[in-house]
Amino acid sequence: MDERSVADIFDDVYSSTAGSTVVRRLYEAIYGDDFPGLLQPFSLVTWSDLRRIARDLCLGRGASLLDLACGEGGPGLWVAHETGASLTGVDISPVAIEHARERARAMRFGGDATFRAGSFAATGLSSASFDGVMSIDALWLAPDKRAALREVARLLRPGKRFVFTTWDFGPETNEPDQIPDHRPLLPEAGFEVVSYDPTPHWEETFRAIAQAHLDTRDDLAAELGEKAADEMVAHHQRRAALLPHWKRILVVAQKCLDSPPGTLPWQRE
Ligand SMILES: C[S@@+](CC[C@H](N)C(=O)[O-])C[C@H]1O[C@@H](n2cnc3c(N)ncnc32)[C@H](O)[C@@H]1O
Repeated sequence: MDERSVADIFDDVYSSTAGSTVVRRLYEAIYGDDFPGLLQPFSLVTWSDLRRIARDLCLGRGASLLDLACGEGGPGLWVAHETGASLTGVDISPVAIEHARERARAMRFGGDATFRAGSFAATGLSSASFDGVMSIDALWLAPDKRAALREVARLLRPGKRFVFTTWDFGPETNEPDQIPDHRPLLPEAGFEVVSYDPTPHWEETFRAIAQAHLDTRDDLAAELGEKAADEMVAHHQRRAALLPHWKRILVVAQKCLDSPPGTLPWQRE
């Protein structure tokens, strides 16, 4: 799918279903205290993930953090607050970016948080301008993972970290543009893999989410309309049927200090 269509789809989602109270309650029931509801994420992120991301980015106070595919900004704002970093958020959806700006204003984040529209492959940001990059549940949406990782490597200062969650899709899933293992791609882009872990309880959590969408279908329809409810239920059923052939991972990657000039793909032109 081209990036313009993806932006339109997410603009639509962020103008309608993303704020669903029924979905929020369903997540609260499944995740319990680990659900970061006050940040209003549009992802499967938990407080445990966020604490780990904040810790493993290894940012000092005053560092610069980029949240790539930041959505409506809540998770990145929390990590920036927790670490004392300034935040730049980038997302392909202009609606998400507008909501993220509103959230930052409401949280009185002031000049330390800026949000702009852009994509994984083309952020429009300066080279070597960040001390850390995070991304939650979004890299799988980038059609070209290699180009996305090269862009992250370009943006990071040497020795700094990219911490992200995404999904490995096994070949059985037949998902277009997906890959079964991100590890070989990271060194190609100039990263060392520090850790690569499935997120805890991922499979049973996703099954519970899919079942809960089915069980609350009528409440979803009352809140969001019949069409949206049926699409959400069908999406989760389709994805649940692919288990266990896809898995959610949390990756810590460090940009290499010693890539000789001209050896990285983005330096060759
Ligand atoms: C599942 S949401 C996660 C949002 C946010 N990280 C969170 O945790 O709330 C995926 C996000 O990726 C964004 N996205 C999709 N394709 C993108 C691309 N090629 N470049 C940048 N952002 C993209 C969408 O607009 C959406 O906000």
